[in-house]
Amino acid sequence: MTTATITGVGAALPATVLGNDHFTPLGTSHEWIVKRTGIHTRHWLGPGESLAGLAEQACREALADAGRDAREVDHVVVSTVTPDRITPGIAPGLATRLGAPHPPALDLNAACAGFLYALDHACAQIESGRARCVLVCAAEALSRITDTTDRSTAVLFGDAAGAVVVTPAGPGAGERPAFRLGSDGRHEDLLYADPTDRLLRMSGREVYEFAVGTMVEQTRAVLSGCGLTLADVGLFIGHQANARILRAVAAELGVPPSRTEISIENVGNTSSASIPFALRQARNRGRLRPGDRIAMAAFGAGFVWGAGVIRW
Ligand code: ACO
Repeated sequence: MTTATITGVGAALPATVLGNDHFTPLGTSHEWIVKRTGIHTRHWLGPGESLAGLAEQACREALADAGRDAREVDHVVVSTVTPDRITPGIAPGLATRLGAPHPPALDLNAACAGFLYALDHACAQIESGRARCVLVCAAEALSRITDTTDRSTAVLFGDAAGAVVVTPAGPGAGERPAFRLGSDGRHEDLLYADPTDRLLRMSGREVYEFAVGTMVEQTRAVLSGCGLTLADVGLFIGHQANARILRAVAAELGVPPSRTEISIENVGNTSSASIPFALRQARNRGRLRPGDRIAMAAFGAGFVWGAGVIRW
């Protein structure tokens, strides 16, 4: 049975940077934002900039990192809640601009957990033998659905894209990636954006409680399903919604800061792009050694959640 693995990672940010002072007219402060969220700055797409362009930059970096040519890509999956157009999705145009030869190409929306849903999908394509080189991209422009008059959400979000290349692992790589994905639609009114005003509404405190509990529970479950514990994991990356959430999850799991990646400080909550962005940061900081197990967990609107473990 083929084992899937991540062989390259890339990320991209828009040029425009907004500091916390940008939001002080809303009745907030740099100190409040840093203390409650860990966010100092975030990047927002400017007028006329496309999310597809950002996705393309991240994918080109991931392909170069993997040493792969776009002509080898035989499947493209993009996670996003903010595509440039309602339809088509980002994936087909992205595949064409990269030069991939007419692969299956789809967008999926699993909110902030979308990267793990897309990664699970990619690994299944590889392991079933249907694909040999899958490009997974998470591209989000939350600024497009942010209510810039609401201090409780406006300060949180940023725009970014992250991408990974998923291919068969080399001979002898026995351990397959594992995922646990789930949902509970009873809570859909706690975090949503409607087509009428296209603005994100969130009951932050309630979401916070669910996010911490679910990410802890699902991370433990995915590891124990593989006969593993946190002691077997090189790095834990949670969805970067809030530094306090990440520290609370790591503390409950018993993962020390040296094995937790936090990248929210200069990008904010970038929804499903946050895990690949943090993964690329960890790689750039030399925090990943070949063969390390990476455990990941995410939680978002729906509610939907995911946890996974994969070898680097
Ligand atoms: N500046 C100053 N005060 C603020 C701000 C702000 N930016 N935002 C809220 N407040 C006030 C509130 O009005 C409230 O005031 P009150 O006590 O007078 O009513 C007080 O601060 C406390 O509000 P809480 O909502 O309880 O603050 P909390 O500590 O929970 O922090 C936050 C809010 C940052 C939104 C937090 O709840 C959070 O991160 N929630 C989870 C977000 C999340 O996980 N989302 C999941 C995925 S969603 C996604 O990623 C797209």
